[in-house]
Amino acid sequence: MNKLIYSGTFDPFTNGHLDIAARASKLCAELIILVLSNQEKTALFTYEERLDLIKQSITELENVKVDFWDGLLVDYCRINDVTTIIRGLRSETDYNYEKKMALNNQILLPACETLFITAAPEYSCISSSMVKTIASYGGNIEQMVPAHISQAIKAKLTEN
Ligand code: COA
Repeated sequence: MNKLIYSGTFDPFTNGHLDIAARASKLCAELIILVLSNQEKTALFTYEERLDLIKQSITELENVKVDFWDGLLVDYCRINDVTTIIRGLRSETDYNYEKKMALNNQILLPACETLFITAAPEYSCISSSMVKTIASYGGNIEQMVPAHISQAIKAKLTEN
């Protein structure tokens, strides 16, 4: 495959996301990790901060770039000539949610397909909001996110 998009809010990017990105990068010439907004979520980090934190996490992945987009995912795909979206699947609950999103994206842009990569068992219980909740109570998130992201979360929570 030529280009793949791995989309998400990535607030913040976790070790589970990193695992999916690394595996997806082996399937294509170029992987774009695309930071988007989910209007139902209030983000802890700005787009720029998330982009920067992801960039620092993927220094060992040569064919991966990071971008952000404040609009519909399919519009980014259309403008950048991408026809394949990658999403990670951790559970049946993810599947039911992802299926709706993939079908809606396909109605909006029929040429675009969504492919799923199964999350590794050790990352299947990690979620960005769980990481933020644990950190807000002073819990240990070292095994869930890269070290620089753990530091950034702690700094952000102290600031807020
Ligand atoms: N490891 C760790 N966490 C994972 C994971 C993995 N492998 N796979 C999924 N997750 C978690 C995320 O951490 C996140 O956790 P949270 O809910 O606690 O924040 C959750 O699964 C799903 O988040 P994400 O992948 O960021 O999806 P989302 O549902 O927040 O948003 C977008 C999905 C951003 C792709 C979607 O809203 C979008 O496309 N927005 C742009 C506007 C648009 O086109 N809308 C129409 C869509 S049909």
